[in-house]
Amino acid sequence: MRFGRFDDEHREYVIDTPMVPYPWINYLGYDGFFSLISNTAGGYSFYKDARLRRITRYRYNNIPVDDGGKYFYINDNNDVWSPGWKPVKAELDKYECRHGLGYTKITGEKNNLEAEVLYLVPLKFNGEVQRVRLTNKSDYVKKFKLFSFVEFCLWNAYDDMTNFQRNFSTGEVEIKGSVIYHKTEYRERRDHFAFYSVNSDIAGYDTQMEDFLGLYNGFSSPDAVIEGKPRNSEAHGWQPIGSHCIEVELGAGEVKDYIFILGYVENDKNDKWESPGIINKTKAQKMISKMSSSEDVDRELDAISDYWDGLLSVYGIEHPEDKLSRMVNIWNPYQCITTYNMSRSASYFESGIGRGFGFRDSNQDLLGCIHQIPEKSKQRILDIAATQMEDGSAYHQYQPLTKRGNDEVGGNFNDDPLWLIASVSAYIKETGDYSILERLVPFDNDENKEKNLFEHLKRSFYHVVDNLGPHRLPLIGRADWNDCLNLNCFSEDPDESFQTTENKEGKVAESVLIAGMFVCYGREFEEICRRTGKEKEAKEANRHVNSMIGIINEHGWDGEWFLRAYDDKGDKVGSSENEEGQIFIESQGFCIMAGIGVDDGRAKQTLDSVKEKLSCEYGIVLQNPAYSKYYLNLGEISTYPEGYKENAGVFCHNNPWIMIAETIIGRGDEAFDYYRRIAPAYLEEISEIHKTEPYVYSQMVSGKDAYKKGEAKNSWLTGTAAWNYVAITQYILGIRPDYDGLIIDPCIPSDWDGFKIVRKFRNSVYNIEVKNPEKVSKGIKSLKLDGKELEGNKVPISDDGEIHRVEVVLG
Ligand code: BGC
Ligand code: NOJ
Repeated sequence: MRFGRFDDEHREYVIDTPMVPYPWINYLGYDGFFSLISNTAGGYSFYKDARLRRITRYRYNNIPVDDGGKYFYINDNNDVWSPGWKPVKAELDKYECRHGLGYTKITGEKNNLEAEVLYLVPLKFNGEVQRVRLTNKSDYVKKFKLFSFVEFCLWNAYDDMTNFQRNFSTGEVEIKGSVIYHKTEYRERRDHFAFYSVNSDIAGYDTQMEDFLGLYNGFSSPDAVIEGKPRNSEAHGWQPIGSHCIEVELGAGEVKDYIFILGYVENDKNDKWESPGIINKTKAQKMISKMSSSEDVDRELDAISDYWDGLLSVYGIEHPEDKLSRMVNIWNPYQCITTYNMSRSASYFESGIGRGFGFRDSNQDLLGCIHQIPEKSKQRILDIAATQMEDGSAYHQYQPLTKRGNDEVGGNFNDDPLWLIASVSAYIKETGDYSILERLVPFDNDENKEKNLFEHLKRSFYHVVDNLGPHRLPLIGRADWNDCLNLNCFSEDPDESFQTTENKEGKVAESVLIAGMFVCYGREFEEICRRTGKEKEAKEANRHVNSMIGIINEHGWDGEWFLRAYDDKGDKVGSSENEEGQIFIESQGFCIMAGIGVDDGRAKQTLDSVKEKLSCEYGIVLQNPAYSKYYLNLGEISTYPEGYKENAGVFCHNNPWIMIAETIIGRGDEAFDYYRRIAPAYLEEISEIHKTEPYVYSQMVSGKDAYKKGEAKNSWLTGTAAWNYVAITQYILGIRPDYDGLIIDPCIPSDWDGFKIVRKFRNSVYNIEVKNPEKVSKGIKSLKLDGKELEGNKVPISDDGEIHRVEVVLG
């Protein structure tokens, strides 16, 4: 069942009922100011850091779901309603929500009055602009009242939801004309405030929640709105809000626009005040005048659209299958930019207070967006590298505002360092910019411990070499990619967090996944050494990589698939010898991506095992059989009920590792089949089962062992976005940047006739046409660049600002 439709021309998903199976959201913002907005106008805003600079409040896990947001109310002769249906939930004559790239437009209509609310965060603007367009569709004059509503958060979102004994006494606002200023704590150490403005005269306002709502009311029936009488309340402590009341008169057919701005301002410490106790509003006024008219908003909307034109033009497909085209051209790259912006910090499943940016997460996110935002990616790489320790290990997370490693979350996830090599090599392949390796980057953000980025990579590489276990496989540490495979944890105390509690020193438990990653990314390290003239380092690296391949062959192969790990006793995990958890997805993907078993048939055998034991209608589950009880030696993975999350859920993040592995052995039908099983656009028809947005990936879909199968959770912020983008664009469609050219190596379903790709790469544009006359999956019969036959499958770098024609015939 569908709850809307894709509008590919406008790059929008159009939702046509407010009651979707779970709030379907969108993200607004680019660099500083961000908003999350649901299809019923729920959500919240923050500046850079969802924990430390929360601008509006959100009550998580609320009842009803998704209560609280950027609401408008209309009181039309005592008929009260909201254009986004919520919070009033009055029945509307018409409802529509269009989530577009960087904006959301929600329209409601009742009693011949249409209210369209456009929400956007303009480029280079620290604020959310809301344009309310009111249309009188009747043939008589309409007089009614429009109320706006936002609820301010007292900045630190964690403190805000826990420390009421203080916070109920600190709230402060200022009201001047039609602008409400939220200035809690500005009197002391904060140099920032928020404001909420409208470009018209107002009939009144409210800034204190209790006065606006009435203490015993919810958002659905504020006293001020129901009575049509703003209280002109001034918040002192308690819960500051911003609400304007506007009296509107519209002639028959008349249309009127109102522009609201929710802005964020930072002032210089020495320039905080206009006069004692009165904040300096100069910057806010500037922002307000920049967006004062409907034309201003149109201009910003156009600028946003141009911005996305630019980003999306780097890789585009022409293919008869709409679902594929809309994933590749629009929604998957859009989600990749969002995961770049947010990492795992703030969504409808991540509260924005529990997590900063993950070290491995952010490195992997880059894999999906370097081609779109190379400059920002470079900066991100340098920021991440600066949280690495001198011994090559890393803080697992860092806070986006301070860019410092987060002590609370600690380190010792032994896969983390290798992901830095992954992102840096991808960056160099895309841009050819080796100079990044020379950039000086501190360890642990300490300027006295600065070394160039190359040295950081080297320490990542040797962190593995220096931490091998009894079988000479890499020690797993706290956990590897699978946060829940906690082989050194042994927790018997329910009040301990698996993620942070103290672990055994861990000199025994080993990870075959990290071993596979080491071969994959170790090879990239070797290549980088070689290409920068460090022949000796390259040889050394090569020796370690080869030795690891030998060790995987000797101790990492289980007979029909790759083993997953050795536990603290040296017992196998992910082996046919185990009763449960016999086969895991991760090591299968990475060992084959590392090329292991490709020549001797084991890769094929492995992927057959994956198909037989792990795949199901909804994707490939993480392991099988699911754990049916808690295992002290395995940790959090065995805490989840069967089929959910890391305990045999379809953890979408690593499904693409298997897709890529399938392309490596040439099975395009299988690769694409796996792609289709989890790509959201292909699941639109089963939205009532899938539940989350049909335009973005979710972290997890419940697997074949789950009570309710096929139900997705944790949408938006997941490494799934980047990895699926890599799998489809670089391996299935097969257009892949390399250090010295563009590899053309599709591996597609054999019944495809072909497809076309436009790829911008190193200052040239390539119009690539792939034809498949012999109906094969893989193999290049001929490759022509501008009419000239090329040897092999790599298009050399032209770097000439020109458009080139690439003709590919498979066979
Ligand atoms: C989840 C993981 C997550 C970890 C850290 C666990 O409970 O299952 O997916 O990475 O917490 O947030
Ligand atoms: C979510 C985390 O963000 C990611 O880093 C981890 O790899 C997966 N969970 C799997 O546990």
